[in-house]
Amino acid sequence: MPQVKIAPSILSADFGRLADEVRSVCAAGADEIHVDVMDGTFVPNITIGPPVLRALREAAGNLPLDVHLMIAEPERYLEDFIKAGAAILTVHQEACLHLHRAVVRIRELGARAGVSINPSTSVMTLEPLAGEIDRVLIMSVNPGFGGQAFIEASLRKIEQAHGLFLHRGRTGWDLEVDGGVDAGNAARIVAAGANVLVAGAAVFGRGPADRGKHAERIAALRKAVETG
Ligand code: DX5
Ligand code: ZN
Repeated sequence: MPQVKIAPSILSADFGRLADEVRSVCAAGADEIHVDVMDGTFVPNITIGPPVLRALREAAGNLPLDVHLMIAEPERYLEDFIKAGAAILTVHQEACLHLHRAVVRIRELGARAGVSINPSTSVMTLEPLAGEIDRVLIMSVNPGFGGQAFIEASLRKIEQAHGLFLHRGRTGWDLEVDGGVDAGNAARIVAAGANVLVAGAAVFGRGPADRGKHAERIAALRKAVETG
């Protein structure tokens, strides 16, 4: 089984103490910090931009920032987010008219290039680019909000994406799953082929009365993966 990475999504963190929350999950055993960027157009919600990312870069120490752009025309901002500290920059297939160009540009700018697909988008839309993408992000909820329920049909898409990239014989690519991941489904997601698990509510909790316990929650995810 590949080494599974846990990427806490700061969308469910306490935004009033964001840097502390990031430092806390770093100390609690996170492998990456997942940052959700939303523009109110591609998704209904609005979150943060490059200046906040820059502040988080410092708080994250040597952990990579995994930046998930849920914005329209992401090509306009690739450089800004990479300059601000994105080590992995993921765009949505549905948001890019010229996806190949966006992927090549991200890599030219020195980051790993990710492409995400919504629950209603077929894995096969990525087939022509399988040789260029460093990371596939399968959305297992409709993007825009944390704390939603995992869509079970995503498991088949994870298997398909895994098959597609294995078939291409590439090494070093990641298969990331985002949305509704918790200790109850993590093992099935990994068994389907994922090696990066995004976890918002499962790490940061479900609101003010449910904060903290980051180490315990990350350990529970890892244990669920290990014990199956
Ligand atoms: C949703 C975001 C996710 C979100 C996941 O659009 O892309 O990263 O924070 O949150 P949970 O794990 O709570 O579903
Ligand atoms: Zn995300």
